[in-house]
Amino acid sequence: MKIIVVGATGTIGKFVVSALQDQHEVIAVGNRGGKFQVDITDSQSIRALFDKTGRFDALIATVGKVHFGDFAKLTEKEVEIGIRSKLMGQVNLVLIGRDHMNDGGSFTLTTGVLAQDPIRSGACASLANGALESFAIAAAIELPRGLRINVVSPGLLDESLASYGPFFPGHETVPGKRVAKAYVKSALGHQTGQIYRVL
Ligand SMILES: NC(=O)c1ccc[n+]([C@@H]2O[C@H](COP(=O)([O-])OP(=O)(O)OC[C@H]3O[C@@H](n4cnc5c(N)ncnc54)[C@H](OP(=O)(O)O)[C@@H]3O)[C@@H](O)[C@H]2O)c1
Repeated sequence: MKIIVVGATGTIGKFVVSALQDQHEVIAVGNRGGKFQVDITDSQSIRALFDKTGRFDALIATVGKVHFGDFAKLTEKEVEIGIRSKLMGQVNLVLIGRDHMNDGGSFTLTTGVLAQDPIRSGACASLANGALESFAIAAAIELPRGLRINVVSPGLLDESLASYGPFFPGHETVPGKRVAKAYVKSALGHQTGQIYRVL
């Protein structure tokens, strides 16, 4: 299976690539690294990516920035960062990518625990995650040609504890290797419209 991983050079993406690369043709895409580069906030850049990769069987997105900051001072511009990147970036990977995907292919998007379990300073992440999950369950009932779409919603990774731990007091962390299994299940399984919460 030819599988594009957008965000392949990141913390989650690296685990996903290593879970799949022995048995599949994995195309690693990053913003600066990877075999190909894309800026998911720019739809022209996404179109250019698929022109280079050619048709594929699965697309996994482990990508998307959001602003973290005190709600009392939160601005429209800060909210828009997550909408343009994590939400619309992944939505556009689907809207543009569907025409380049082989019949029966699958999209797997990434949200996160903050959709259901908010933290202080995390409103922008919760917003993008919730919207993306609702988009995916709706897209699943209308995608043509047997195309599927699922979401992986991880808790804080063990490997990200040093960077984000202070924002997540009392949260259980989850090993990246276990998170990667949900992406494998989505891409190689037959389910659609699912949100795999790995907590
Ligand atoms: N880490 C966690 O504990 C955790 C938990 C739950 C949810 N999540 C979510 O999972 C996603 C990935 O998190 P992560 O920790 O793996 O992130 P990360 O380590 O920062 O990696 C980000 C990846 O996205 C790429 N990237 C950055 N900006 C991009 C852009 N504009 N266009 C295309 N690619 C871009 C990076 O490419 P380069 O390396 O080439 O710059 C890298 O491959 C995020 O949405 C995050 O909210 C993470």
